[in-house]
Amino acid sequence: ADDRRERLYTLSARAGKFFQETMWETEEGKSIGLSYFKERGFRDDIIRKFELGYSPDDWDALSGKVIAEGFKEDVLEATGLAIRNDKGKLYDRFRGRVMFPIHNFTGRLIGFGGRTLKTEKSVPKYVNSPESDIYHKSNVLYGLFFARKAIRDEDNCFLVEGYADVLSVHQAGVENVVASSGTSLTTEQIRLIGRFTRNITILYDGDAAGIKASLRGLDMILEEGLNVKVVLFADGHDPDSYVKQYGGPALKTYIERNLQDFILFKTTMLLKYAGNDPIKRAGVIRDIVESIAKIPDGIKASVFVRECSSLMQIEERVLISELNKIRLAKS
Ligand code: GTP
Ligand code: MN
Ligand code: MN
Ligand code: MN
Ligand code: MN
Repeated sequence: ADDRRERLYTLSARAGKFFQETMWETEEGKSIGLSYFKERGFRDDIIRKFELGYSPDDWDALSGKVIAEGFKEDVLEATGLAIRNDKGKLYDRFRGRVMFPIHNFTGRLIGFGGRTLKTEKSVPKYVNSPESDIYHKSNVLYGLFFARKAIRDEDNCFLVEGYADVLSVHQAGVENVVASSGTSLTTEQIRLIGRFTRNITILYDGDAAGIKASLRGLDMILEEGLNVKVVLFADGHDPDSYVKQYGGPALKTYIERNLQDFILFKTTMLLKYAGNDPIKRAGVIRDIVESIAKIPDGIKASVFVRECSSLMQIEERVLISELNKIRLAKS
């Protein structure tokens, strides 16, 4: 079984090289793939470091090449790099897309994300490798291999939504950044970050989906006993578009000035919808106490009770009694 996995790793690495060579050395790759990344403002050193590439717009460019080199069809299929059609013939999953290789935290290439260059709504923006014997997406964080040292040094991990966000934030000099690519955040991914730091800062997109995902993510992070802060981007920006509009140094300042602990973020978000309605405000308080109840450390929890009390103008003892009710119900 280990031999089989080894073959998948070997083919994935071979495919990564193929997509890179295609991008740097062919006319199609240079004029379409490389120029796309450059137009998005990615520097050569970042394009090389993250091993970005381009898949030719052809049904079997990769399959044909690696079969000729002796790779077996079933291995191609097992990595998801090729798909068998109903006539039993293999075709490439990634065609005419810019390629983001996904590495595990030890640096082995295990899968890909491929972005289309088309703008038609009918074409999926990203295609990702499917689950395989070497790629379990719920256990993988995009960029972790390149971020792990900085995460330890900074004792914090920035969490973003997308591949492009990881690249732009990293390029801006903030190297402790990862994305939960291709899935919504999982408990396994939080535990993986927990091996390097106990502190996570969420930098999701400044749209309704990003806010919703931040609220969900912060509860999951609290449940794992890690600390969580949130930075909210305005005007629908994501970290990548922010860097492109305002520059890398501005991103660092923006993060410093807009860092919110989870109570502040959650209170602000929920109160916006509750307005002055007392029943709705009571619901918000209950919701926040629910989050505090997820924190395993009692001392930490009591610090947040105090903050909630002052933000919501409600007595601490009321919050504590609610907290105890929730804790009792859960035990
Ligand atoms: P850019 O337009 O390249 O800047 O992409 P983005 O990363 O800003 O995209 P978005 O915020 O829409 O999505 C965030 C992440 O979700 C992406 O990086 C992908 O990992 C994933 N994603 C987005 N669109 C799709 C899709 O159509 N299919 C799948 N499977 N994943 C997607
Ligand atoms: Mn993943
Ligand atoms: Mn988004
Ligand atoms: Mn985005
Ligand atoms: Mn984006």
